[in-house]
This record gives sequence, C-alpha cells and structure tokens, in this order.
Amino acid sequence: MEPVALITGAGRGIGAATARELSRRGYRVAVNYHRDAAAAAAVAAETGGTALRADVRDPAQVAGLLAACGPPDVLVCNANITPPFEPLLSMPWEAFIGKVQGELAAAYHLTQAVLPEMPPHGRIVYVSSLSAELTRPGAAAHAAAKAALDAFARHVAAEASPVTVNVVAPAGVRTEGSAAARTPETEAALAERSVLGRMIEPDDVARVIAAVADGGMPAVTGVRIPVDAGYRVLGGP
Ligand SMILES: NC(=O)c1ccc[n+]([C@@H]2O[C@H](COP(=O)([O-])OP(=O)(O)OC[C@H]3O[C@@H](n4cnc5c(N)ncnc54)[C@H](OP(=O)(O)O)[C@@H]3O)[C@@H](O)[C@H]2O)c1
Repeated sequence: MEPVALITGAGRGIGAATARELSRRGYRVAVNYHRDAAAAAAVAAETGGTALRADVRDPAQVAGLLAACGPPDVLVCNANITPPFEPLLSMPWEAFIGKVQGELAAAYHLTQAVLPEMPPHGRIVYVSSLSAELTRPGAAAHAAAKAALDAFARHVAAEASPVTVNVVAPAGVRTEGSAAARTPETEAALAERSVLGRMIEPDDVARVIAAVADGGMPAVTGVRIPVDAGYRVLGGP
C-alpha cells in the first residue's frame, strides 16, 4: 500500500506544491484545506489524493481529519494561520494572540493526534519562517508564533523517537499568502539581497520538505532547515 502524507493547508501555495511533490514520490496525499474547497479539489484531482476540510486549530476537526485519512506516515504542518501585520504598539491583543494561539493550537492538536499512531518510520515536518529570527516592522505576532513553533518542534523531537521531527523555515515565498506584502519593488529587493539572486518559489520549499519527509534523512531530527536563497549570508531580508 502507498504511504500516506497529510499536508495541512494544501489547497494552494507551499502546501499544494508539497502535495504534488510527495505524490510524485509515491505518497497518497491528504489535501487538507479550510475555506477554499475548489482549490483543494483541484490539487486532489491532480495528485490522485483526497481533499479534506478541517480547521486545524480545532481539536474536534483535527480528530475528524485523522479519522478520514487514517494514520499518516508523514505529517506536514503547513497551514497558514494568517498573521496580522501592523506595529506592535497598536496591534490589538486579540489579533496578536489569535496568531500565536492558532499557530500553536494547530501544531499541538495535530501532533497529539498523529504521533501516537505513527509508524516507526514516521516523519513530522513543521513549516516555520525565517521571520522567527528577524525583526521586521509589523511582524511581531508572526515572528513570536513561529519562534514558539520552533521551540515546540524541538520538544516534540525529543519525545518522538523513532519518528523524526524537523522544521523547514522559508524566507519570502511567492504564494497567495504573501501577495499582500509583495510588490514588484519588494520582490526585486528580496532577489537582490539573496545569494541566488531570485525569489523563493513554492516548489523550492516543497522539495526540501519532501527530502526530509521521504526517508532520505533518517538520522536528521530536531533541526531547523532554512530555505532562504542565501538571504542570511548577506545579512537578512
Ligand atoms: N509565503 C511566504 O512567504 C512564507 C514564508 C515563510 C513561511 N511561510 C509559511 O508557509 C506556510 C504556508 O504559507 P503559504 O504562503 O503557502 O500560504 P497560503 O498561500 O496563504 O495558503 C494557505 C493554506 O493554508 C490553509 N489554511 C489557512 N488556515 C487554515 C486552518 N485554520 N486550517 C486548515 N487550513 C488552513 C488555506 O486553506 P483555504 O485556502 O482553504 O482557507 C490554504 O490552503 C505557512 O505556515 C506560512 O507561515 C510562508
């Protein structure tokens, strides 16, 4: 039987690219989504997978998701809990904690539901962000949430053996999720400040996630892998 990969937030962006990449590698993909059923159905049709609706911040919906897809060999926690981008001093507490709590609720409930049922070769990958280690105007909630996710993932790794647990942390990726924060000028500036001289595409991130998830790195656990086209080498975006 084909191994199963559950990818949260796989209707578009990095999640959809990861579903395509893991499907090419022989996985049956569970394409989780929240609101956009048509987008997820298109990814499922393309990959031969199944589109499954669930708000992954909600433990009851996570339980339903697992009941529908069965215990996965691979879990990719990718769903984009959309962050508020505004100065910290004017950011309402509800907006700040909504992002931090949502990010951690998704990781916590998925991990607790999946890990006990995972086979020994199981793999968990959390999608974090380079933002966790940067200071950018307006990004306090996003950075705090992703930094907390990084710490959470290390502690899961410490308890998950023989399952491996890793973090993939992209810099700015060309997706719908980042569209509001991107202009031709900011894209050009990002490309100029990267060693590779270009933006990061969803496929770039998907290939790293798949490399970690697909058994090619059995002795790598508890690490955080940046996918940043070399921004940090030149001092960060
Ligand atoms: N894009 C970047 O520049 C960038 C950089 C660093 C890190 N990241 C991280 O990469 C991940 C993916 O980002 P992206 O840009 O590819 O996102 P995106 O284009 O905004 O797509 C987000 C996906 O997440 C789903 N989603 C949102 N809330 C959900 C929920 N509560 N439950 C289940 N699914 C939910 C959406 O489903 P529906 O459309 O069905 O609602 C959609 O499929 C995120 O964790 C993000 O923080 C992104």
